[in-house]
Amino acid sequence: MMDEKEFQAHLKEETARCEKVVEKWLPTPVAYERQVVEAANYSVRAGGKRLRPLILDETGRMYCGREALREPFMAAIEMIHTYSLIHDDLPAMDNDTLRRGKKTTWAVYGDGMAVIAGDGLLNFAYETALRAFDLCTPGEAGFVQRAVRTLARNAGFYGMVGGQCADLEAEMRPAGEVSDDLLQFIHLNKTAAMIRSAFQIGAILAEAPEDDVIALGKIADDVGLAFQIQDDILDVCGDAKTLGKSIGKDREEGKATYVTLHGLDGAKKKVAELTEDALHRMDQLSENSDFLRTLVESMMTRTR
Ligand code: IPE
Ligand code: IPE
Ligand code: MG
Ligand code: MG
Ligand code: MG
Repeated sequence: MMDEKEFQAHLKEETARCEKVVEKWLPTPVAYERQVVEAANYSVRAGGKRLRPLILDETGRMYCGREALREPFMAAIEMIHTYSLIHDDLPAMDNDTLRRGKKTTWAVYGDGMAVIAGDGLLNFAYETALRAFDLCTPGEAGFVQRAVRTLARNAGFYGMVGGQCADLEAEMRPAGEVSDDLLQFIHLNKTAAMIRSAFQIGAILAEAPEDDVIALGKIADDVGLAFQIQDDILDVCGDAKTLGKSIGKDREEGKATYVTLHGLDGAKKKVAELTEDALHRMDQLSENSDFLRTLVESMMTRTR
């Protein structure tokens, strides 16, 4: 494990690298589409922790993969994640006006523009990820193809979109009718699926052993579940300024969360258990990274 000072310095450095990579691949506004491109870039540039590209980059580094090959995927995963936030904040979904410390995209550009900014970012993400084919050797092409498929699967019906579907439907029911199983499905899909892409794509592109790619998927499930439970905890006891988004929204919407089902203490205990489990699984990988371990551990006590 890294000590706190060393970790914070490294995190700052690596986040700056992610910012640079994401910025490099952003679309350029040129003609009458200017407004939608600006709306998309507004949300990406609003900030955020860049956790998914950070994890993707570090797992790639762990297996000595080629930096240039994973960069389009780092940008693509952050574009897909940002599109999911733009849509999640819409009045028809969570109706939020604050995101990443700024007004949400719809609050600045209107709902119609926010819908198509999300659509555009999703498409541009794949256009960007596919650029990896221009950068790879013939021997690497199969791995790039698997990485694109992993990205698409986890973002779509059988991943994040599926989770958002179950989340929307669950909100229509009285909170008492949402079972542990359903909540687990929601969290695994709406949140853990994109984190699974982050953990696996770096490793896939680096041609990591198959056992490790599978184990990274399990680690991502633990980390993703813990991440969403912590998100729900922060909705109750976080600080809007630090968090960069409004708090108390889940209660306002009568949303069932791990906190409403098991209380604050139960939720905190679960986050700690899942994190322990993830760290234990990481010990069994054929490669390891102190930075990644410390990052996973730090997410347990995150305040933003
Ligand atoms: C927010 O994700 C949405 C959830 C899955 C809980 P992040 O907390 O990673 O948001 P940013 O990217 O830092 O803004
Ligand atoms: C978001 O879950 C998951 C997404 C796929 C965007 P939430 O609705 O809890 O995320 P926040 O709290 O708005 O970031
Ligand atoms: Mg939501
Ligand atoms: Mg939301
Ligand atoms: Mg939330």
